[in-house]
Order: sequence, then structure tokens, then C-alpha cells
Amino acid sequence: MSDRISNPANDAHTFDPPADLAAGANLKADAYERAAKDRLAFWAEQAERISWAEPFTEVLDWTNPPFARWFVDGKINASYNCVDRHVEAGHGDRVALHFVGEPGDTRDITYAQLKDEVSQAANTLAQLGVQAGDRVAIYMPMIPEAVVAMLACARLGAPHTVVFGGFSSEALASRVLDCNAKIVITADGGYRRGAASPLKPAVDDAIAKLGKDNPIDHVVVVRRTGQDVPFNDIRDVWWHETVGKASIEHTPEAFDSEHPLYVMYTSGTTGTPKGILHTTGGYLVQTAYTFWGVFDHKPGDIYWCTADIGWVTGHSYLVYGPLANGATQVLYEGTPDTPHKGRWWEIIQDKGVTLFYTAPTAIRTCMKWGEQIPAEYDLSTLRILGSVGESINPEAYIWYRENIGGGRTPIVDTWWQTETGGHMISPLPGVTASKPGSAMMPVPGVTADVVDDTGTSVSNGESGYLVIRDPWPSMLRTIWGDDERYKDTYWSRWEGMYFAGDGAKRDEDGAIWLLGRVDDVMNVSGHRLSTTEIESALVSHPKVAEAAVVGADDDTTGQAVVAFVILRESAGDGGQKVVAELRDHVGKEIGPIAKPRRIMVVPELPKTRSGKIMRRLLRDVAENREVGDATTLADSSVMDLIAAGMAAPATAGEN
Ligand code: PRX
Repeated sequence: MSDRISNPANDAHTFDPPADLAAGANLKADAYERAAKDRLAFWAEQAERISWAEPFTEVLDWTNPPFARWFVDGKINASYNCVDRHVEAGHGDRVALHFVGEPGDTRDITYAQLKDEVSQAANTLAQLGVQAGDRVAIYMPMIPEAVVAMLACARLGAPHTVVFGGFSSEALASRVLDCNAKIVITADGGYRRGAASPLKPAVDDAIAKLGKDNPIDHVVVVRRTGQDVPFNDIRDVWWHETVGKASIEHTPEAFDSEHPLYVMYTSGTTGTPKGILHTTGGYLVQTAYTFWGVFDHKPGDIYWCTADIGWVTGHSYLVYGPLANGATQVLYEGTPDTPHKGRWWEIIQDKGVTLFYTAPTAIRTCMKWGEQIPAEYDLSTLRILGSVGESINPEAYIWYRENIGGGRTPIVDTWWQTETGGHMISPLPGVTASKPGSAMMPVPGVTADVVDDTGTSVSNGESGYLVIRDPWPSMLRTIWGDDERYKDTYWSRWEGMYFAGDGAKRDEDGAIWLLGRVDDVMNVSGHRLSTTEIESALVSHPKVAEAAVVGADDDTTGQAVVAFVILRESAGDGGQKVVAELRDHVGKEIGPIAKPRRIMVVPELPKTRSGKIMRRLLRDVAENREVGDATTLADSSVMDLIAAGMAAPATAGEN
């Protein structure tokens, strides 16, 4: 397991917080001390950022670990906290969302308008039979209605499960089935790379696939592109004909602090995605607190997170965290290079963005395009930059800071996970000196540690496994429908510690450097993919006998999917045609992001004597190969390495 832990490059740069930012920062150094002295009192203080319909009686109930209850007995409505209370406080005219569509259409939505639309959507869902506790699937492009749909579900206490619009109908079907969703909210399509890309047909496909198991009663369809889509008059309703005509009066009900807020599916080490369950009070407290503290959000800031709402970053730092703080933000539908490669920077200039949050893979792509592109735009409004999804390599960090941040802006490298719900390890922009490539230290209130195989903290300068020692408010509560898998996956490795699945190093100064996953989970463009899930997709193809998948280093995407397959005799010698067929098959089973960058057809896979595939060896092969000459090397170096590996005695961890 520890074979992926390597030492990060030491980098000489350290950036201190700018003096003016430090002087006025929301979170100052004393927060670390206060949280260390009394962690629960610190979290109780953060809970005051949220409006409670009824106060909590206890901060944390941890009598039945690992099942936590935060802000016990408190009553709360997440939608009220994100919308109504800002209107009640007199900020109804403040823009909540500056929507920018890919074709260039724009729409500014104030908090008052958001409140009306969320109320209308809640009334519509209620009319369609949605009650507190029912699950609603959301499969949408990045348009304001996606945010409205999430908040409407939260308002009704109906947990949403947002399925990334880039996932296939198969992936949608399996998620709908797993959480037994009764409604899907979707759109005819969305704009991507200059074209209208359909979504609704995938919903129809998913429902058809589910057949008699289909739990979906209704599909609510937003008209975004106007393209022709199949419509079932009994089951399907248009958003504009229902939500658009519904009453704007809706009184939010207060739910228990532990009422489920959403289920977000993410890849684990098995073939089936896990439904990560987040509940209301603790999640809202931590996302609101970290948004305020880590991004130093102030009234007047214009914030932009480029993540899709289909991922946890879109949930925590596009919907709940920013809106709970009454922030004004940009919501952009499309890709960074449509219609030109300066699109993001043009939006920052036009909207006066001050806080910008994106992923290292996007930064590396922009680096490739060249610094002359952002140089054409006025980016001087930016004051803090954020990074998430994987470690930001020092080169990309420096490029980001210099070319986007004008050499002025701190970068907050935020480490967290779908499971953690909110930021866990990150510098504070007004307090923590930052080293490019390091997420530095846990945010006040979080107790992260790096431990060795026995669960003992490592000394400075040593590597090990990242763990969280104490429960935190926005922690996952379980895996949907599978408490045992929750315990086994996260809490069984060392007594009383949450194991994050990441390797980490603590440097000589105690700063934390993330070293990537130590399990069979890959990180492609900041998105989590499971090797086993892609292997299952490959072997479900009739021409495949066996498959092994690894994540290989990739300059742009961090890791890329590389697959090794053994074909069945009956597949014949299909060559590149079979490879193309298999890539498409994975795209169809999971989604285009899971398509292997490369598939190598091999006669044998390297296995230990006990039959376990030695993925480490395959990773060596995948990373050392030159791009372009797949055929020759597939026979020689792959087989040489495989032969060498088969001859060598099995080493620890490979049996
Ligand atoms: O390996 C870590 C990496 O992404 C994983 C979590 O993936 P996911 O649940 O999809 O959430 C992504 C967005 C929060 C982690 O286990 N990761 C995320 N952020 C960082 C990171 N690795 C290093 N540095 C980060 N800042």
C-alpha cells in the first residue's frame, strides 16, 4: 500500500500573507488557539453563523462512534439559511448569482428572486408528491435552475442526489436505483463547447433501463437549449409550465439538525459507487465557516468557483457555503475555451471577481495555452485564489499566483473530500505562510494527523497516512443504506481515527504535503474514479476476458486512466477497432471522464502467486511508455516488465 508514498520536492518558496489582508482577515491566528483549547466550544461559536429555528442542546453526541450527531436537537432549514434570511435582513436586492451562459446569455438573480424561485420549485415538487425524506435526483447543466432545484429539495427536507451531467444514463440509473429517487429534475440540454448537448434523452434511457424497478414518478424538465427532446405527457412536466406558474409563497419547515441533506455518490475501491450521506446542521456550519474563513469572504466580494454542481465542491462551495454567507457569485455554464481561451479571465474582468476557486488541472491547461492569454485581461480585482482536487504542483502554483494573481494573491490549497463535506486542511489567507504544493495545516477546529502503519503520529520530516483524529461537523454520517461499509471503509484501520485514503508527509516545519491516494482510487482532473469500477465496466464487454486499470501520471489531468485488457478468443484480432469500442463502452457505462486515455491489449496480466494483479508494475509500464508507439512497446516493454515481475518474489502488500 505504501508504494505510492514518495517524497515531495522541497521547494524554497514560502509566501507570507499580505500585510493588509492579514490586518483585516476574518480568521486570525487566535482561532487556532481557541479551537485547540476547546474544540467543541469553537464549533458552537461557528454554529452562530447559522439561523436555528430551535437551538441545539449539545454540540456533539459521539456516544455511538463512528455515528456522529452534531448540534443535537437543533432545528434548521438549509434553504431558509441560504436564501430567506438574507432577504429578511434587507439584502433582497443583492445579486446571488451572476449567471453566464456559454453562448453569452447572462442573467443576474438577486436573493429576493432566488427566494421566489426556490419557493416556486418547492411548491411544484410538493405538488408532484415530494415529502420530507423522499429522494430527488438532479441531472442538470450548470444553470441557475440547478441551484434552485437543490435549494427547493433542501427546503422540503427531501435529500437531493445530484448526478454529474457528464455521467452516462447507466450511472444515472444506478444512482437513482440505489437511493430510490422518485423525481428527476433535468434539462433538455446544456451548452458545451459551442453546441447544445442533450441531457433529457439520458434520463429516458435510464428509466427504460430500470424497467420494472424504476422508482421515478415524474421528470421535471428545464428548457435551456430549446432542442427537441422526447416527452412523456404523463410522466414529464416542463419546469416553466409548473415551477414558472407556482406560488412564490412557501414557508420552510424546520428539520432536525441531523436530517439528511443530500447523498453524493463517489467512487470507492469496489465496483459500486458509495452514496455519501451529509446531514443538515453540521454540514451547513462547517461549509459556512470555512467559506468565510478560508476565502476570507467579505460583503462586496465577488466569488467564483468553477466546479460543477455534480461534484462535492459544487455543493459545498457553490451552493451551501457561499449562499449561507449571502455571497454574490458567478455561475458559468460552459468550458474555459469557448468561444476562446480567455473566456474565464474575461468573466473575471467583466464581473470584477475577487475570490476565485479552481482545480490544478485547469491551471495546468491554462499554462499550456500560455500566459499571454490571461495577460490580455484586467485581473486586478482578484485578492485570493483557491485550489482543490489534488496537490497543486509548485510550478502550477507559481504560474497561478504570478499570472492570475499578479504576484499579490495568497493561494489557499484546500484539502478535503466528498466525505469530509468541507475544507479540512488549508492555509488561512491572512495567517498562514504558504509553501507551493503544501496544504499546510488543518483549519481551526479540525485535528488532522499523519500516522505510520501502527497508527502512531510520524515525526516531522516523515511520511505516512493522513487521518482525522476527532469528528468534525460536516463529516459524512454513513454510506447510504450501508452502515457496515461506512465503518469498514473509514474507521476500521486504526481505532477511533478516520482514514482518508491519502498518503501525506509532514515536513521539517510540520506542514502537511498530500501525496495522493494509497488505495485503488484515481484522481483524474480532480475527479475521483475507481480502478475497480472501470475494470468492471471493461469486463462487462463481451470481448474482454480480463482487465486491469491504473492511474498513470499525466501532465495536465494529474492522473490518467490506463487500461490493460486480455481479449477473449472470440474477439479475434480487432486491433485499434476493439480499443475504440472498449473506450466507448466505458464512456457509456460510466461517463466520458472515465474513458481510458490508453487501452493496451496484452496476452497476460502481471499477477502475484495468489492471483492479485500487481498494479504497481502496470503503473510503471504506463508511465514509462512514450506516447504514440503503442503497438511496438505493447509487445516488448510491457511483456518484459510483466516477465520480470512474474519472476520476482511477491513483495509485501502485493499478496
Ligand atoms: O486525494 C485527495 C484529493 O482528492 C480526494 C478527494 O476527492 P473527492 O472526494 O472527489 O473531492 C474532491 C474535492 C474536494 C482526496 O482524498 N484532494 C482533494 N483536494 C486536495 C487533494 N489532494 C491534495 N491536495 C488537495 N488540495
